[in-house]
Amino acid sequence: MVLEDRSREYVEHRVRAGVLEQGTVDLLGSIGADARLRAEGIVHHGIELRFSRRAHRIALSELTGGRAITIYGQQEVVKDLVAARLQSGGPLHFEVDDVSLSGFERDEPRIRFRDGGGAVQVIECDFIAGCDGFHGVCRPSFPPGVLQVYERNYPFGWLGVLADVPPSTEELIYCNHERGFALHSLRSPTLSRLYLQCDPADEIGAWPDDRIWDEMHTRFATEAGWTLNEGPIVEKGITPMRGFVVEPMQLGRLYLAGDAAHIVPPTGAKGLNLAVHDVDTLAAAIAAWYERGDQSLLDAYTDTCLRRIWRVQQFSAWMTSMLHRHPRADGFDARLQLAQLEHVCRSRAAATTLAENYVGLERV
Ligand code: DHB
Repeated sequence: MVLEDRSREYVEHRVRAGVLEQGTVDLLGSIGADARLRAEGIVHHGIELRFSRRAHRIALSELTGGRAITIYGQQEVVKDLVAARLQSGGPLHFEVDDVSLSGFERDEPRIRFRDGGGAVQVIECDFIAGCDGFHGVCRPSFPPGVLQVYERNYPFGWLGVLADVPPSTEELIYCNHERGFALHSLRSPTLSRLYLQCDPADEIGAWPDDRIWDEMHTRFATEAGWTLNEGPIVEKGITPMRGFVVEPMQLGRLYLAGDAAHIVPPTGAKGLNLAVHDVDTLAAAIAAWYERGDQSLLDAYTDTCLRRIWRVQQFSAWMTSMLHRHPRADGFDARLQLAQLEHVCRSRAAATTLAENYVGLERV
């Protein structure tokens, strides 16, 4: 049974990340939810690192034995999963309210909630999967003292915009500039997705469209000359950047998955992919329990997930520190960043490390 506190309209249209690892695409294929993804997703075999006003390509597929990433908006994945769920006839409730959990420590999980029509319902179930995001009710339902929290707040945010204009690039551009990081991504042949490093305390009103485009032109400029297409900005927002992990991710019959248990800074586009890995692991463990009475995969859930989560935290923190301007950075730090970027572009071994992590490690 799936409970969602927002409306279907909201979750199907909220613009979020858009880079799917090979493993995420394969998983959506294995559950038969990939028809539109195959038709509309845009497969990328490389990314660009831009610094010192020069472009450098990282040949993802060549360095990883043919693996690739697919550009496909998270809200499109949500639409496909909602459609698959409705087609299967399984219960799916939108706009639920007053959700509370109990009994999961005693092997008697219960969920109480108010449904969209206002009626209170109680579910008796075998398992609760806490896939309810960073602000959800599942993590706070753990008794005090159980969870160890690891957290890093970055002193910058991302201003993300969706612009109704054909992308100015065929491949994603990660740009290091003395005024701060910039990222050019896309959603379709006619929609560009762009990000700028900003102060996390900035109000969105401080970023009128003209200022956004000026800043983009400045940060993406190259010596060879490069043209950024401008168009109407149809959506914009500021997201603070943080790393966050709780351990363990389970207690009794309650299992946390995705942002309920961990957040990665967005550089490298790992959040959605990590959440997919959690639920894949959990689904296999629950299946083993029903099919063979085998509890071992459930018991190992936290350890299995944390191995990948910390690997991805390290990769995302590394990408973040290599590409962003820290407010307290001095000339020494800037030189270290450039030395690191040049190494990644010149050394096949270093580029391979980036590429392997970027397309997604098979199993950690
Ligand atoms: C996108 C987001 C990311 O965090 C990233 O690293 C690359 C692309 C995107 O929204 O397209």
